[in-house]
Amino acid sequence: MEWREAGAGDPVLFVHGFPFHSAMWGPQLSAMPPGWRGIAPDLRGFGASEGPPESVTSMDAFADDLARLLDHLRIEQAVVCGLSMGGYVALALWRRHRDRIRAFVLCDTRAGGDSPEAAEARRRLAERVLAEGPAAVADGMLPRLLSPNTARRSPGTVEFVRAMMMETRALTMSRALLGMAERPDSEAMLPEIDVRTLVIVGDEDVITSRGQADMLARGIRPATLAVIEGAGHLPNLEQPAEFNQLLSEFLVGLPSEARVA
Ligand code: MLT
Repeated sequence: MEWREAGAGDPVLFVHGFPFHSAMWGPQLSAMPPGWRGIAPDLRGFGASEGPPESVTSMDAFADDLARLLDHLRIEQAVVCGLSMGGYVALALWRRHRDRIRAFVLCDTRAGGDSPEAAEARRRLAERVLAEGPAAVADGMLPRLLSPNTARRSPGTVEFVRAMMMETRALTMSRALLGMAERPDSEAMLPEIDVRTLVIVGDEDVITSRGQADMLARGIRPATLAVIEGAGHLPNLEQPAEFNQLLSEFLVGLPSEARVA
């Protein structure tokens, strides 16, 4: 497994969305607050990491990889910041390795599983990407990822996001699509989450809605919700200054004790 990192101090594990890689966290790694260390892995098969050998890459497999990475880095607990699929992986980490989580930042993600129709559409796309290559995913997703404001104002961001998607291997995309299709619904688990949580959503996100963010923030007792204006599904890239400000205030305000009484 490969990862990028920056800063020194208490760890924040940044988990990328689909079908991106660790480079999506560049604006956060370059602005880690003093006393904090950002670690952004490439999930199995993505970016520079190897894999995936299985026919389905489950969210649980990604989560187990992250726990092994923490072992390797001799980190007992980290703040886990996951965006979209990275949020699904963060919730799998809670299911399987909750002692490793000091706090959560859950961005543009949801607790619910796929409906049967959505899962079927993912399975069809998983087939299609093997036949047609990464553009089969990238061309469909790109117009929905960024707010119209970002698309107009920042052609460099559009190009960067498209390039990240096109760098992802078709096999990796296909396996992860199958993994997302079969991920469990985590709504019933939310009341168990007793670590401080910041839920972030772009106000123009059409992939994971404001309503889904509200649901997360209501379900997790120690959670607060922040809505970033003028951002779609990738607020950390679309409005990095505002995202970093929220992240930094959250980190600096964290007590050393992870669990909320
Ligand atoms: C992501 O950004 O990780 C994906 O949009 C997640 C998904 O397709 O559900």
